[in-house]
Amino acid sequence: MTLTPALRDLYAQRRLHLAQQLGPGGIALVPTAPSYARNRDSEFPYRHDSYFYYLCGFTEPDAWLLITADGETTLLCQPKDLEREIWDGYRLGPDAAPAALGVQQAWSSQDIEQRLPRLLENRHTVWYPFATHQGLPQRLDGWLSKVRARVRFGVQCPSQQRDLCGLLDEMRLVKDDHELDLMRRAARISADAHVRAMQVCARRLRAGETVREFHLDAELLHEFRTHGSQFPAYGSIVAAGANACVLHYRADAAEIRDGELVLIDAGCELDGYASDITRTFPANGRFTAAQRDLYDLVLASQTAAVQATRAGARFTDPHDATVRVLAQGLLDLGLLQSNVHGTVDDVIEQRHYFRFYMHRTGHWLGMDVHDCGSYVEPGEAARGTPRRDPLSGETINDRPSRILRPGMVTTIEPGLYVRAADDVPQAFWNLGIRIEDDAVITPQGCELITRDVPVDPVAIEALMQA
Ligand code: GLY
Ligand code: MN
Ligand code: MN
Repeated sequence: MTLTPALRDLYAQRRLHLAQQLGPGGIALVPTAPSYARNRDSEFPYRHDSYFYYLCGFTEPDAWLLITADGETTLLCQPKDLEREIWDGYRLGPDAAPAALGVQQAWSSQDIEQRLPRLLENRHTVWYPFATHQGLPQRLDGWLSKVRARVRFGVQCPSQQRDLCGLLDEMRLVKDDHELDLMRRAARISADAHVRAMQVCARRLRAGETVREFHLDAELLHEFRTHGSQFPAYGSIVAAGANACVLHYRADAAEIRDGELVLIDAGCELDGYASDITRTFPANGRFTAAQRDLYDLVLASQTAAVQATRAGARFTDPHDATVRVLAQGLLDLGLLQSNVHGTVDDVIEQRHYFRFYMHRTGHWLGMDVHDCGSYVEPGEAARGTPRRDPLSGETINDRPSRILRPGMVTTIEPGLYVRAADDVPQAFWNLGIRIEDDAVITPQGCELITRDVPVDPVAIEALMQA
C-alpha cells in the first residue's frame, strides 16, 4: 500500500498536532489491534485499531507507532517474509514504509524488544492508550526496566506515564473534510442497502415466498460489499415482529410474516469509517393503523431531536426534545395514563417513559460506531449537580453535557419498544420501532447524511410497492 501525497500530509498533520500536546520529552506509543484466532488456522477478519489508523492510515497487523514531541515518527511493522506473504498476503515491510506512509523511520516489529527500550531512552513521559490493549502496561514495564538498566551509562528513564486516549479522543471527535467525505459515502451505501432490503422483503412476500431475517441480512451485505465496504460496522440487527423489542437482537432465522413490522439496524464500514441506520417498516409494505400511530410518534420525536441538533446546543438537547414528544404521545395513545402517571412533566421527571424508551437518543459516530469523545463539556467538568434517579434510587452527578460544534457527528435514534402486558392496549403489543439517522453538526443545524432511505411512512410504503 502507498498513500497518496495528500493522505500522507493529512496523517502527518494529525501526528504533528498530537506531538504538540505531548509536552517536552513526551513520546506517544500507539499499537494497532491484535489479530485473533477463530479456531485452528482460521482467524477472525482483521480490523486495525482506530487510534493507530487515525495517525498513519496503515492497516497491517502487528504494527506500532512511536511519536515524539517534535513530531518524529517511528513505525514498527511486520518484516518482509516471502513464505508468510505466500500464505497470508503482501506486507509493506520497514524498508518501504517511510516513502509509502510518510513516517521518518521504520523497523521490523520482530525487533521490538530491542528497539522499544532505545526509543524510550531520555524521554520524560510515555503516553499510551490506557485500558485499551491487554498486556500493554506489563510490556511497557519490561521495556522501561531495560531503560533503567542503562541508567549507569548516562541515559534517563521516563518517569511519567499518561493516558493518550483523552488527547486522541478530542482530535477524533471533530471530523475533518476527508473523514466527512468517507462518512457520507458510507452513509449512502448503507441507505441504499436499507432500501434494497425493504423492497426485497415486500417483493418476496407478494410472491408468496418465505422471508426470514437472514434473507434481508444477505441483501444488506450484498449492497455493502458491492460498493466496496469492507465489513458491516457492527452486527446487523434484522428483527421481525416482537424481536424488535430486543435492543441487541441480531439477524437470525425468524420468519418475517405478513402484517408484522421489521426493524433493521445496520450500517457498513467504509475505509475505516462507520455508518449506523435504523429503519422500521411493514413487512408487506402497508402499515396497520396501530403500527402507524406508534411510528408517527417516534418520527415526530425524531423530528424534534433533529431540530434540537445544532452547533451551540448541548449533546443532551436532542434527547430531551425526543423524550418530551414521546412522553406526550404515550399519554395520548393510552400507553401511559394521566390518572396513574400524571402530566407530561411527571412522566419525564419520574421517567415513566423508560419502560418503553430505555436508551439514549444518540452517540458519537466515526471510525467506531459508538465513537470516542467525552459527552461532558471539558471546561465545565467540575460543575456537577447531584440528583436522585427516581427509578434506581441512585444519586447521579449530572455534569454539563457537551456543547455541539461543527464537524462532530452524532446519531439521532429515538424508539419505542412495547412488550405484551395487561396494562397496555393490545393493538401495540410486540411493536418495536426505532428510526436512526446520522447527523453532521453544521454551523446552522445539522446535515442528515442517511436520508437516501426515507423515514416518511408514505414514502416507505411507496418504495415498497415499487
Ligand atoms: N447500531 C448500534 C446503535 O445504534 O447504537
Ligand atoms: Mn446508533
Ligand atoms: Mn444503530
